[in-house]
Amino acid sequence: MKEIIKSVHITLKEEGELNEIEHKLVAAAKEATFRSYAPYSRFHVGAAVLLANGEIITGNNQENCAYPSGLCAERTTLFYANARYPDVPVKMLCIAARDTSGEFTKGPISPCGGCRQVMLETEHRFGIPMQVMLYGTNGTYFVNSARDLMPVGFDSSSLI
Ligand code: THU
Repeated sequence: MKEIIKSVHITLKEEGELNEIEHKLVAAAKEATFRSYAPYSRFHVGAAVLLANGEIITGNNQENCAYPSGLCAERTTLFYANARYPDVPVKMLCIAARDTSGEFTKGPISPCGGCRQVMLETEHRFGIPMQVMLYGTNGTYFVNSARDLMPVGFDSSSLI
């Protein structure tokens, strides 16, 4: 028997420790929560991505009365960014959320498995790591790549 240990390096930064671009991304993700369509869960998630061309694109969760037809903020945003700029790598992704009280979550918002899988695909597609920022009012978690959020995720090498 063999044990395989995969560890993840997370950096936790408080608001005052963010650099200019990180601060911009947090602000954009927070702002995007106010345009989410979440009448069913009332959990408003916003995402902001930084593209290699310097552009910041935002999106949010889009719910549906047929619940599974809705989509999370991360996928809405990544699909939109990739649909608009299919050849421009995504360098960073930041997410923020307001819970049913209307306040931003204290802890970092954690992406669901489906979104992690799409983040991984984005990273593979462009061949560069995508830094992920998970905002909470108590601090923002940083990981250096989507792979860190899904260490044994499915990838296209299995399809061969
Ligand atoms: N949601 C996101 O948009 N992103 C996440 O990372 C977690 C969950 C959305 C899906 C649904 O609209 C609502 O939050 C409650 O699950």
